[in-house]
Amino acid sequence: MSNPFKSVPIRSYEITPKDVYFSRRDFIKAAGVVAGSVALASCAPNAGEPSEATVAAENPVTISGKTTDELGDPLNSFQDITNYNNYYEFTTDKEGVAPLSQGFTPKPWSVEVSGMVKKPKIYAFEDLLKNFTQEERIYRLRCVEAWSMVIPWTGFTLASLLNEVEPTSDAKYVRFETVMRPEEMKGQGSPFYPWPYQEGLRLDEAMNDLTLLATGLYGEDMPNQNGAPIRLVVPWKYGFKSIKSIVKIELTDKQPETLWNTTAPNEYGFYSNVNPAVDHPRWSQASERRIGELSRRATLPFNGYGDQVASLYEGMDLSVHY
Ligand code: MTE
Repeated sequence: MSNPFKSVPIRSYEITPKDVYFSRRDFIKAAGVVAGSVALASCAPNAGEPSEATVAAENPVTISGKTTDELGDPLNSFQDITNYNNYYEFTTDKEGVAPLSQGFTPKPWSVEVSGMVKKPKIYAFEDLLKNFTQEERIYRLRCVEAWSMVIPWTGFTLASLLNEVEPTSDAKYVRFETVMRPEEMKGQGSPFYPWPYQEGLRLDEAMNDLTLLATGLYGEDMPNQNGAPIRLVVPWKYGFKSIKSIVKIELTDKQPETLWNTTAPNEYGFYSNVNPAVDHPRWSQASERRIGELSRRATLPFNGYGDQVASLYEGMDLSVHY
């Protein structure tokens, strides 16, 4: 059972980014200062009625109007981001995820936060939108398969949620679990993977300001194929750490098992920080193909977020703890 990720087809994609259309009245109130690649700016005129999720958001998202990340690289188009996906619960075919996920029902939804916390709680999705400051974060997503995109997410920091439930002093890790719905997600019938998909972070990684619980992209509710209604985004790690459609977040004192580490421990570690110096056993990680570009580009250590996260790993040999 070692066929984790299939090879990446080379295909030409439109570069044209979708205009950033944070245009809804409900997004207009800017929501505070945000870090790194996040930008505050003005917004365009209203282009339509606010969605249900937007209406629920008392804290509106920050509006950037940006078309590039902080390195000057263009955003990928909405078309690219929503039609080239990894979501094995539906299919292993990247272009098949979008059509196969359309029948998935992301509402109603709740997220249970439990384990080593002082205030365990089951959050209705609407309350997560309402109670936590929604921001825009433009992040690079670097898949372990060596392709990448630049994606304008909206969401809130995992730290803001964890601070509310108050991890106990014993808590060292955070474990995440994807919804289990084999009727809607036919891939969960596959015997090759230990469902449900689960992932984990060390507590300090989870508390880092870059770590986002994303509830949308390009100002839209999260599309089903990208992990509706709520998914993790950890931009300095390979994309498989960014688990989709989360129903459980558990604080624990043990390093959580993860789907990919369980499936192929020799290929996928727990940390999985983007590292051009450590190759995957079956391919190089030194470079990547940015979807929309023809030639490959060099992969950056920590996917370009080293200033914010390298200190988390001081003293660790990252060629061993890959
Ligand atoms: N989460 C779940 N539950 N199931 C998955 O198959 N794939 C991962 C990650 N999260 C995956 C998942 C991988 S390999 C990547 S690269 C990203 O989601 C892709 O996110 P995207 O489709 O939004 O680009």
